[in-house]
Amino acid sequence: MRISVAIDGPAGAGKSTIATLVAKKFDLMYINTGAMYRTVALKCKDNNISINETNKICTLIDNMEMKFENDDLILNGENIQSKLTMPEISAVVSSFASIKEVRERLVKLQRDMSNKFNVIMDGRDIGTVVLKDSKYKFFLTATPEERADRRFKELDERGIDVNYDDILKDIIRRDYEDSNRAIDPLRKAEDAIEIDTTGLNIQEVTDKICSYIKKNLK
Ligand code: DC
Repeated sequence: MRISVAIDGPAGAGKSTIATLVAKKFDLMYINTGAMYRTVALKCKDNNISINETNKICTLIDNMEMKFENDDLILNGENIQSKLTMPEISAVVSSFASIKEVRERLVKLQRDMSNKFNVIMDGRDIGTVVLKDSKYKFFLTATPEERADRRFKELDERGIDVNYDDILKDIIRRDYEDSNRAIDPLRKAEDAIEIDTTGLNIQEVTDKICSYIKKNLK
């Protein structure tokens, strides 16, 4: 039987770092669904396609082959992972993620992956929409300030010139946009386990999730 694990939560809650570690522990494929929405935003930017040109965006997605290898997104054979977290993509991605036709296409791709592989997926609508029937659902939170601090350190370590206040503003704006959009907004699934990661380190959160999965696998 296929195993699927769903992790949702706002930007910077630690979802991807933790999902990567849980994936290793249980030999799951890690599907970073935010990276898929970021890919759409990146390619629209590269091709000068605006947010209102739904037909062009759909054609672009229909010609994309997205897969994950070693936690990186591979688009039509090219590893584009390092381009996806650039601040200029973070600034526009929520708008692309609020388009119904974009969501329909990406949700279908995500479900296809979960039918083929044992997966752990992180995002905003995984427990509520994509993997609604998953037995293992987690919802990670942390204060906006702690999440901005984590993002700042991550980008700074990669040598990207960023300002903490700009990151905090971007996180607060995205929280609002992701939680208030009409289609599949960010919310906790009723049956998801909520973990407030403020003040917890990565290992502590990973351990909580792994011990829950282990207990319920039996
Ligand atoms: O997790 P992230 O910050 O990389 O996500 C980028 C954007 O994509 C975020 O603003 C919300 C959106 N997103 C979404 O709407 N649904 C998902 N399953 C994953 C991400």
